[in-house]
Amino acid sequence: MASSPIVELIREKLDIIEIVREYVPSLKRAGRNYKANCPFHNEKTPSFTVNPDKKIFFCFGCSSGGDIFKFVMDIEGLSFPEAVRKLALKAGVEYGDERAHHISPEDKERLDLKKLMTAAAAFYHKALFSPAGEKARLYLGERRLSKTTVEKFELGWAPAGGSAMMEELQAKGWSSDLALKAGLITEREGGRVADTFRGRIMFPIRNQSGETIAFGGRVLDPEGIPKYLNSPETPLFSKRKTLYGLHEALPQIRRTGRLLLLEGYMDVIGAHQHGVDWAVAPLGTNLTLEHSGIIRRYAKDTVVMFDDDRAGIQASVKAAETFMESGLYVRLASLDNGLDPDEYLNEHGREEFEKKLAAAADPLDFRMNLFFKNKPSPTAQEKAQAIALLLETVARQGDEILKSEWVKNLATRFGVEQDSVLKQLRKTALALPREAPRKQAPPLAMPQMEKGYIQLLLRDPALIEQSSALEPEDFSSPLARTLFAALRALPPEARPKAPAALAQQYPEHSSLVLELAVTDLGGPDASAGRDAAGAVRMLKRFSAERRLKELKALPSMDPQQLQEYSRLMLELKSSVKDR
Ligand code: UTP
Ligand code: MN
Repeated sequence: MASSPIVELIREKLDIIEIVREYVPSLKRAGRNYKANCPFHNEKTPSFTVNPDKKIFFCFGCSSGGDIFKFVMDIEGLSFPEAVRKLALKAGVEYGDERAHHISPEDKERLDLKKLMTAAAAFYHKALFSPAGEKARLYLGERRLSKTTVEKFELGWAPAGGSAMMEELQAKGWSSDLALKAGLITEREGGRVADTFRGRIMFPIRNQSGETIAFGGRVLDPEGIPKYLNSPETPLFSKRKTLYGLHEALPQIRRTGRLLLLEGYMDVIGAHQHGVDWAVAPLGTNLTLEHSGIIRRYAKDTVVMFDDDRAGIQASVKAAETFMESGLYVRLASLDNGLDPDEYLNEHGREEFEKKLAAAADPLDFRMNLFFKNKPSPTAQEKAQAIALLLETVARQGDEILKSEWVKNLATRFGVEQDSVLKQLRKTALALPREAPRKQAPPLAMPQMEKGYIQLLLRDPALIEQSSALEPEDFSSPLARTLFAALRALPPEARPKAPAALAQQYPEHSSLVLELAVTDLGGPDASAGRDAAGAVRMLKRFSAERRLKELKALPSMDPQQLQEYSRLMLELKSSVKDR
């Protein structure tokens, strides 16, 4: 992550608060820093901290931290050059061709893969409007997709033949190695390669920034299997972390804090076409903790609406539990008469659809509704069985207030005593598998005094001017020595950015450096200089005491050591007088 002038220029021009706020709207001022719930881990009290002066962020909960580029890399899953390119655009800095900048082979490959995916999407899209794409166009028409929608999602057609796409891409100079890595072509029996997607309607899968990173392909032939084929996992694409439609839905989600989670591609596209443009979907997987982590960043109000069939209902209950596990409160909505959201919207229109969204219930109510719909007058035994199952959901609720609310609702709806529900809940909670405790950062072996001084310097690097009496050897901890020497070695113009510079120079200590830099010291700033001077004297004294102890422990001293001994004794006396 070597800094180049262009990187520095971008850093200068951008306000880290403004950038972070795009992803973490709840960022609020707290003293010199800004704070919010961390976007990188689940928490209820804000420990995610951004310091606008030093242009760094740090989370006291999960120890993630770094500069503006690191933030964009982590939150969008980008490589360094990708983050630079993105921020260059925001800063209005001419970034030019990335070949002009130094990039690692992995980053280069990611950039190439993205270009290839863009080329492939264009190929499929063109094929859809070619004579060979006629059946596919007819099918999309039957599904009532407008031309505008087809363009917006850049839908395409993968020709039915063997390797039409590969041939065209190769003619344009793309290597088959890269196409293999991208999952666009696949090795078949006998070592032959052929297009991965054949005879399918193509759905480009985009990342949050709108770049194509994978494809989903739907068969036209109703007998074809699998119905949907997705790209394999590649350096660009991890389905656990990807939500279809997020790029298109983000502006609206940011505006309103509302997010609608649907089950599949066609539902998302149909929803957007009908103006329900805050809809996204996972990609043929259960909702993962990674997904809910992404959703938590942007949405305050999430509604899950899966297909109105057994599988859909089970999956939505499961999704709600995953959300709950990551501390997110969601509601569940359902449609009746077995329709998919996409079909429902086409048949009943947006207004009726939104009524269903408005009627979304919390996960417990949702499940109770289902139960009583099937069994309007359950026997005592059926009730007990149902309650036992429902209590597993209740037990997972981390919010104690909601939990007790749920217990009340459950007791009322089933007409049983709240006390017995509570007793049963305790048993259920004991039987649930326990989550592994979060790993704690290893304790730091730096004496408080040394840590405090390094912190003063990180906060106010100009104080380094007053440290001339100190040598790295005056610190007892090797880490403090390293950091002190590095701070002192910084040229004066680099001092204002000392924390970011050190974090970059010593990635293994970056958490500590950033933590120290953003931690509030308490007390007015004016005292910093005095504190620093006092700290220098104290450190010097501790250092002298340590050395004296060492010397005293020697069996005998040579003249030089004796001289050192007397000098230290004198120093100690005068330092005590000074105070
Ligand atoms: P559905 O079978 O409900 O598809 O699968 P759908 O969205 O209703 O599709 P249409 O309306 O028939 O075109 C829901 C989602 O599950 C994933 C896809 O992401 C799909 O959108 N899926 C389904 C697969 O990944 N593979 C499959 O074979 C089937
Ligand atoms: Mn469908």
